Amino acid sequence: MSTTENRGQFGSKLGFILSAAGSAVGLGNIWKFPGKAYFCGGGAFLIVYLIIVALIGTTVMMAEFTVGRKTHKNAVGAMRELNSKWSWVGGLGVLTGFIILCYYCQVGGWAIKYIVAYITDVQTVWADPTAYFLNNLLGADGTFPVQGAVIYPFIFLALTAYIISHGTAGIEKMSTILMPVLFIMLIGLMIRACTLPGADEGLAYMLHVDFSTINGVAILTALGQAFFSLSLGMGVMMTYASYLSNEDNLVSNTAIVCTLDTMVALFAGFMIIPAVFATGIAPGMGGGFGFATLAGVFMAIPGGQFVGMLFYFLLFFAAITSSTSILEGTIAFLVEEKGVARKKALVVTSVIIFIVGVLYTLSQAHMNLKGIWLSGSGVTFPIFGDFLEYLTDRLLLPAGAFFTTLFVGWVWGTENSIQEATSNGKFKFSLAPIYKVIVKFLDPIAIGAIIVAGMVFDMAIS
Ligand code: PHE
Repeated sequence: MSTTENRGQFGSKLGFILSAAGSAVGLGNIWKFPGKAYFCGGGAFLIVYLIIVALIGTTVMMAEFTVGRKTHKNAVGAMRELNSKWSWVGGLGVLTGFIILCYYCQVGGWAIKYIVAYITDVQTVWADPTAYFLNNLLGADGTFPVQGAVIYPFIFLALTAYIISHGTAGIEKMSTILMPVLFIMLIGLMIRACTLPGADEGLAYMLHVDFSTINGVAILTALGQAFFSLSLGMGVMMTYASYLSNEDNLVSNTAIVCTLDTMVALFAGFMIIPAVFATGIAPGMGGGFGFATLAGVFMAIPGGQFVGMLFYFLLFFAAITSSTSILEGTIAFLVEEKGVARKKALVVTSVIIFIVGVLYTLSQAHMNLKGIWLSGSGVTFPIFGDFLEYLTDRLLLPAGAFFTTLFVGWVWGTENSIQEATSNGKFKFSLAPIYKVIVKFLDPIAIGAIIVAGMVFDMAIS
């Protein structure tokens, strides 16, 4: 196919799987998931999460994969080709990705800052971990956080853009190196955490199943987490699959990517929660968790400086293999739909993302780790930071997934999607009848419910 060749293609099966898994495995798994599992009841939450991934996550991913691979186009072009009235759904995805990147690159930058700090100056971080995080990264003491808001996020974004400037080859090369390293590091850190004295209490917490802890908020949290974690609802998986050859098996790819992503989330949970129990630190949530709270854990364990440094490398690798996927979604759209040259699209997009991102970090300065308003210091953009996350996690990602499943279920049609998934019957897909029913009914209903419920309740945990 000449169009496919012009726009690049993944070089190997494994390259695609590791790249898609690289997109899925990110800050969502390592930084968000453990806290949610802890607060939503441990073992019972894990079971709810697994059921949601198995039923909803896999089917939405398959729907996205089939649309992308069928058309070999970016999200907007793909939807347009299948039905011109629906191209705005792809546009919504591109917009969502753009907004997510604004804060994703800031947090990715913080991971680099902490790698450097753990290597060169860990005593200063440990002297007062919360103050270090609030002042150095967010500028809560009234100083301009030049490192947290500008320098390190800039480095992170520049690396992301550099990798993307090499197209699919860049993504594939990075993912085939970083993803195996990430897995090995994660398993090592998990073993370290689980063998700490006192870790068994944390393990018991994660394995104890008590369904009385599962309420509406826990289910909605699990659903929203699954989308974010599997990179669904914004056309990223569609764009990645568009670089895949027609000979690749989308059924097994969906299963492998969902399994890898979920394994990493579980491993991260079994790394962080036992460590937190062993060191007696009260787990917190939100931005400070991965930075301020975990510093207490690293301080308390033998070899904590080295373990901490490894952890931030892990966070950085996870973040950059995701940020590149999001940026690729936007760039593929600008290049293919708007005719912008790739380099120019990269520079312009990165500059805007960077500016909005700086404002994001500055806007956090007036909130402490619990989101409580701190008056007085710093530059004020009070609700800006919260607003971006609210908009993407609770509204835009679920909305993107909702419209994608409506589109595949009722407009393009599940038969077409199944034909594509199996490469016209070449591959086996014994669960096809179940896929049909889920995409048509369960997905839109369940996802519609998160959107409505998310707007109605102010979810304590997001
Ligand atoms: N899945 C990534 C994570 O878990 C984030 C992401 C969301 C990436 C949406 C792409 C699209 O961090």
